[in-house]
Amino acid sequence: MDFYDVMMDRRTIRRFQQKPIDREILRRCVNVARLAPSAANLQPLEYILVTEPARCSALFPALHWAAYLEPAWTPSEAEQPTAYIVVITKSETPFTLRDMGLATAHIALLAEAEDLGSCILCNIDKERIRQMLDIPQPYSVDAVIALGYKAEAPVVEEREDTVKYWRDAHGVLHVPKRPLSSVLHLETYQTIKASSHRKSKG
Ligand SMILES: Cc1cc2nc3c(=O)[nH]c(=O)nc-3n(C[C@H](O)[C@H](O)[C@H](O)COP(=O)(O)O)c2cc1C
Repeated sequence: MDFYDVMMDRRTIRRFQQKPIDREILRRCVNVARLAPSAANLQPLEYILVTEPARCSALFPALHWAAYLEPAWTPSEAEQPTAYIVVITKSETPFTLRDMGLATAHIALLAEAEDLGSCILCNIDKERIRQMLDIPQPYSVDAVIALGYKAEAPVVEEREDTVKYWRDAHGVLHVPKRPLSSVLHLETYQTIKASSHRKSKG
């Protein structure tokens, strides 16, 4: 698939098939994170790959899903991720968090290219995860990326009036995104109104 289409098509997935993921694909996810841009090339991040079913089940309650959905929603047992990549670091600086964003994006995009779904999670019980996975001090947990084969197909809605995703009566997740014409400024800030970029794939 064209790389642009991979990037355009990636959506956060929170419902997964219960089908194991080849370990080589998961290793490649960590490998692209390893080579992601890093401020001052400090490379402060390390990764714990969790695939063992009992450990995945133990990790699941430490994760908080889809905060905008009402009533509160969490994947059912039959929809839970089949693998996790836990991002850890010894140095919690603002630069580390920027690295974390890039590393997790690399993982999510490679996952999409491999037909996997992913959800980056930062609303997580970090200390509980640290203890559960025997992560020593001074490491801390930055993020978890949940992975698995997709069991849902969210759709993008070009919307400016809300940032809150929602599920419709059929359970389909709708994800509002600001239109390109709202975020793209040509040459200077002032020229934005002169542009017309309406199409999402434009
Ligand atoms: C840094 C970061 C933290 C996130 N944390 C969570 C989380 O804790 N739980 C969750 O369900 N989704 C989480 N998400 C997923 C966002 O809700 C999702 O990216 C957003 O709704 C846009 O949807 P999209 O990824 O399909 O474009 C997080 C995303 C990012 C980038």
